[in-house]
Amino acid sequence: MNYENLKIKKDNGIGWIVINRPDKLNALNIKTVEELKDAFTVFQTDADVKVVILTGSGEKAFVAGADIKELAGFDEQSGRDYVIKGQEVTQIIENFKKPVIAAVNGYALGGGTELALACHFRFASDNAMMGQPEVKLGLIPGFGGTQRLARLVGKGIAMELILTGRTINAEEAHRIGLVNKVVTQDELLAACEALANKIMVNGPAALAFSIEAINKGLDKTLDDGLLFEAELFGKVCATEDSKEGTLAFLEKRKANFTGK
Ligand code: COA
Repeated sequence: MNYENLKIKKDNGIGWIVINRPDKLNALNIKTVEELKDAFTVFQTDADVKVVILTGSGEKAFVAGADIKELAGFDEQSGRDYVIKGQEVTQIIENFKKPVIAAVNGYALGGGTELALACHFRFASDNAMMGQPEVKLGLIPGFGGTQRLARLVGKGIAMELILTGRTINAEEAHRIGLVNKVVTQDELLAACEALANKIMVNGPAALAFSIEAINKGLDKTLDDGLLFEAELFGKVCATEDSKEGTLAFLEKRKANFTGK
């Protein structure tokens, strides 16, 4: 697929997805949401891609939200249809079987924060501004913000941010646990690449099972979550990579994982 609003690149195991509408601060119109779905679906089965980094084009914004021009024309049916498309993308990202890193390189508002929330890691540049300002437009978050923000930073802070629509800077986002790390804009992509390189030497099945265990475990009781973890542990023990990883340790050498 040729993308109108995305730039895609593959480089040394990293699949880059760059949202590319810089003149609109990378706002998510329907076309961009559809393209994101396609790009993630393609990368999911691309063996050359071990980790995905998602970022925005330009130096000003990751994503400044849903496209307000489109939002202005929605009725009950089209509004619901739009957020279901957006939620589908955030679900694909959250349940992606390879790690996904958000490089938050500026404004990440509304759908921008929600996209970042669906990623497995969020690294931000020190000029990043994040938040859920939808109530200021008479709307509510619709790409998972009411659900994932509370799960990540706690109900109290999520209530405050969503009900005030207050935008926070990178430092505050880091303090409340919304982002993992803050670096300068110049350092951001290199920091994300370094994280990707650190992760991708590990067993691919182990990464996929870890993501699944953490994601699904959060919606279970501790007892059910532990049972689920044991089930996945059994499955991972049946992979060649687990044999290779443990043997490599015992033989005092580096593991050579094949993804089998
Ligand atoms: N949807 C559609 N267009 C958007 C947009 C959005 N969410 N955010 C920014 N843009 C457009 C602007 O309309 C402008 O387009 P124009 O040049 O054709 O007029 C362009 O991007 C640049 O934005 P501008 O507002 O001029 O930049 P700024 O530096 O003055 O302000 C923001 C930056 C992020 C503070 C401001 O753009 C903003 O508040 N955006 C909306 C954020 C929001 O509410 N998001 C949640 C939506 S649910």
